[in-house]
Amino acid sequence: MAASPLAPAWLNYPNDANELNPALWAQGVSRLESGELALDGVGVRELAARYGTPVFVMSETDFRSRARAFRDAFNEAFAAEGGADVYYAGKAFLSLAVASWMSEEGLRIDTCSGGELLVALRAGVDPAHIGLHGNNKSDAELNRALEVNLGRIVVDSIDELEHLAALAGARGTVANVLLRLKPGVHAHTHEYIATAHEDQKFGLSMLAEDQDVSEAMRAVDIALGSDAINLWGVHAHIGSQIFDPEGFEMAAVRLIDFLADIAHRHRVQLPELDLGGGYGIAYTPEDTPRKVAEIAQAIAAVVRQRCAEAQLEVPRISIEPGRAIAGPSTFTLYTAGVRKDVEVDVAGGTATRRYLSVDGGMSDNPRPVLYDADYSAVLASRASGAEPILTRVAGKHCESGDIVVRSAYLPADAGRGDLIAVPGTGAYCWALSSNYNYLGRPPVVALKDGASRLIVRGENEDDLLRRDVGANEMGSE
Ligand SMILES: Cc1ncc(COP(=O)(O)O)c(C=O)c1O
Repeated sequence: MAASPLAPAWLNYPNDANELNPALWAQGVSRLESGELALDGVGVRELAARYGTPVFVMSETDFRSRARAFRDAFNEAFAAEGGADVYYAGKAFLSLAVASWMSEEGLRIDTCSGGELLVALRAGVDPAHIGLHGNNKSDAELNRALEVNLGRIVVDSIDELEHLAALAGARGTVANVLLRLKPGVHAHTHEYIATAHEDQKFGLSMLAEDQDVSEAMRAVDIALGSDAINLWGVHAHIGSQIFDPEGFEMAAVRLIDFLADIAHRHRVQLPELDLGGGYGIAYTPEDTPRKVAEIAQAIAAVVRQRCAEAQLEVPRISIEPGRAIAGPSTFTLYTAGVRKDVEVDVAGGTATRRYLSVDGGMSDNPRPVLYDADYSAVLASRASGAEPILTRVAGKHCESGDIVVRSAYLPADAGRGDLIAVPGTGAYCWALSSNYNYLGRPPVVALKDGASRLIVRGENEDDLLRRDVGANEMGSE
């Protein structure tokens, strides 16, 4: 068999479909001599037998080492300024275990809801090391942040700023605040679009337009004039899956210029500058992320230069990576079921597309449906000498768009009962999972030094019925 005309340009026909591309897999993933996929030497058959499928299989070692890589790269790049702060963006994946790993590794935690804040606090993370985001935080969320004296509340609008000041004033406390700005830079992988204004819900506009000052500067005026607000600095988050440092550099320059405007207008230099998250990872061989240290050095050089030009001290830099820490640490293990070949029209004839359906889908990974995200897949329960055939790994949901992996070359004999592994599912998969079609959300299993343990258990039938009032009434009959 040869390459399929249905394959995307980036997907090469493999010499050996059993081979693992190390760029896509967590450290510690390998094939055992038998050909079975393993993490830390623990075979996937054993994991599937013990925890069932689908299951998220996470390398704690990989997760922690990526967190350390960010911590070390940014601390080294900003060593002359006394280091930098890395906030792990919990929206990518948060559990009590992960929050405590991040604290142990010297990272802080970025949350964006009361629920994420709850997990971080329950895990014992120092509130001074937690940030709270959100464009529409509830009073309960803001009051909780004030109650525990959170290190930073990232304020998204003038409306929220005034409301927060009122809530803090009523409690007799002071809110620690960063202002989220729209720097007019949007970065997505290799494309950078620098626009004057962005039509989006997040952040304060930096444009002066018809008014004397921008919305962002009006927010600064209000914050600095309020006894209930401690304004620490400014923040921007420019996008996701970013591979090159240019977008971060452009945003940094604009925010530093804004800090210079504040210094000029108010005679104060705000001490903090947060450049958000968005660092990209490899989902397919097409994705080629740069080394974190390279990005950190490039950002540090630009920040230093612009601060010198603007005659500012270099502010304390912070960043909020999520995907780049959690994503590569995990693969999802599914069991294959139905196999079906479909004839598809192509120029000059037809081609076969194989559909291999697995026991999960958009309820454990909605990213392909939401963002057209691409993933990779391998036959995991065994190696196979069968020729590779272009395969679409489909989920089991009642949606034709329910695709887990759009295109992968899997051995032609992969089928019912085989285990299929999809790498790069540590971020925004479990976190976005749902009970669609009443599937239970899968467990998350963490491995370290050859030992596996559940860090989030999967949902069972009782869980599926627990919130249904009718079921509870019937149960009590
Ligand atoms: C404000 C903010 N910070 C950090 C992140 C984390 O981004 P990533 O996981 O791409 O690093 C996000 C993601 O949406 C975000 O909105």
